[in-house]
Order: sequence, then structure tokens, then C-alpha cells
Amino acid sequence: MKTILQNFYNTFLIDIEKCSTPEQVRDIEVKYLGKKSEIHSMLKNIGSIENVKEKKDVGKAINSTKNDIQRIINERKELVERKSIERRILENHIDWSMPVFSSSEGSLHPITIVRREIESIFTGMGFTIVDGPEMETEYYNFEALNIPEFHPARDMQDTFHLVNSMIMRTHTSNCQARSMEYMKPPLRIISPGKCFRYEAVDASHETAFYQIEGLLIDEKITIANLIAVMKLFLSEIFKSDIKVRLRPGYFPFVEPGFELDINCLICGGIGCKTCKNSGWLELLPCGMVHPNVLRYGKIDPEKYNGFAFGLGLTRLVMMKFGIPDIRLLNSGDIRFLKQFK
Ligand code: PHE
Repeated sequence: MKTILQNFYNTFLIDIEKCSTPEQVRDIEVKYLGKKSEIHSMLKNIGSIENVKEKKDVGKAINSTKNDIQRIINERKELVERKSIERRILENHIDWSMPVFSSSEGSLHPITIVRREIESIFTGMGFTIVDGPEMETEYYNFEALNIPEFHPARDMQDTFHLVNSMIMRTHTSNCQARSMEYMKPPLRIISPGKCFRYEAVDASHETAFYQIEGLLIDEKITIANLIAVMKLFLSEIFKSDIKVRLRPGYFPFVEPGFELDINCLICGGIGCKTCKNSGWLELLPCGMVHPNVLRYGKIDPEKYNGFAFGLGLTRLVMMKFGIPDIRLLNSGDIRFLKQFK
């Protein structure tokens, strides 16, 4: 009996060694440990052994062989399964190190969420989205916007000067001059992007922030067109009927220039802390494009005119979501960011 068992075990060892797929291992398991296996009938036959001691010994030997076989089968199963996964990875070129799309999926930055929303409102009104450089020449940032060298208006925009004699743009208005050069009127553009100013950082000031420039040039454009476009845009973005008012504002590239205020969204115009009891919130500077700017852009001011606006995107995002500190936006703090899913 012992030799039969030994042979049985040895042939098993040869067979299991040949297995390279989980199916083959399963077949071997059935063959060596299944109901119809030799070891099963050996166990059944123990009853016919008369000698009690021998019966006990044979039983022990069969059981321990059975356990060995089961252990080896389990180890082999694990091995071929791992091998088959590895093979599938190689065949399918799946990168298992890629992050999974699960509940830990990232979310859009609040600035991106609002930027996309604004872009879709303006493209719906026929505006094109254009991009402009963050590192800029003084010409496009100032001169072409009717701000000559030594003009005091340059001092109002604390500028980062670079060693290559260029500057970091202080506003997205550089896109006004640039788009006039390569697009002929009638033109309607918005240009979102980062701007830079050398400012002391506090809860409402950062050295890098976002603006969205808007520019519309056509024939016979009036302030009424400017107000209509702004009201439509603001009503859509704040999802309520917005009242606006214009106050005079000075920017050398617009004439007349305005500060556009909206009715306070917190108190509805009655007066509160946020609007400093005025009922109004200062929101965006705008105005009718100065003829000199059109000339710099090689557009005939006798034939064409238009309006421009400079929306503080960062400020708008803070207002829309009630974000109390501008520094949170650049903090990279996941706890802050994941609230905007
Ligand atoms: N560029 C101006 C600023 O950043 C804003 C502005 C844009 C004003 C367009 C009028 C028209 O302060």
C-alpha cells in the first residue's frame, strides 16, 4: 500500500509541475483528490484491512499524502493565477499603476468651473475665446492700450519686470491689442487668463489672479449694447435677475470708462456688511474702446467702435462660492478643493 501511495504521489508531482493554467490545476485536483480519484478508493478500502495498527498507519499515510497534495495544488493555483494576470497585463498593455476612477476621483478647480461656465455663456452670444501670453512686452500691456511710458496709470498696476526686459502681464487687456491685430472687425472675443501684480498678499490680494477680458468691435456700438451684454451675462452667471449701475471709472484705454456695480446679492439691495450698506457691489470695470486703441490695432475709429470689459474672475469665483480668503484658491488643499465637485 505504501508503495502504491508513494507512486501515486510521485506521478502527481510530475503532473502538477506541468500545469501552467488555472484550468489545468483544476483538472489535476479532480484527478488526484476528486471522488473518482485513486486516493479516494484507497481511503474507502481501509475498512478491509484487518490489522488495527496497520489500518491506523495506512489511514495516517493516506491522509498526510492527501494533505500534501492539497497544499501543493493550492500553491500551484496561486502561482498560475498570478502568472496568468501578468500575462494578460503584458498582452493588453494595461497600466495597472494608473489611478482608478473611484470616489477618490479629482474635481475641477472652482476657477475652472466658473471659467467654463462664463465661456459657454459668451460663446452662446457669438464670442470667440482667445488666449494671450502671460509674459508680455510693455507695448501690448501698456502702450497699445493708450498708456505711454511715464504715464501715471502704469504706476497703478504694480508690475513684475523680468530680466529679459519683458513684463508679466498686469491684466488680460493685452489681448485687446493682440486680437485687433489679427482679427478684423466685426469681432467679439473673451480672453481668460492669469495676471500678475506685485502686491502684498492678504485675504483679498494675490500676486497671481485670473481675469477675463472681453472685447466687441463693430459699427455703431453704444453703451446700451455694453449694458445689455453685461446684464445678460451676469443674470446667467448668478442665476437671478441682476440690476446694474455704471459709475465713471478711469482707464486710459476706454472712453468713457465705467465701474459696473450690481445690486448686492447678500441683502438684495437694502444694505448690509458685504456691500458696506450701499446696496451695491463693485464688480467689473468696462467702457467704450478709446479711438487711440483702435488705431494701435489698425482699425479705423471713424468706421468702427466697441466696448471692452475686464472681469475679475478670481473675485467673481470668491463671490459666487462665498470663499472668504483668496489664498485658499492656490493652497492646493484637498479639503478645500473637493467641496466644488
Ligand atoms: N484691464 C483693467 C484692469 O485690470 C480692467 C479693464 C478692462 C477696464 C477693460 C476697462 C476695460 O484694471
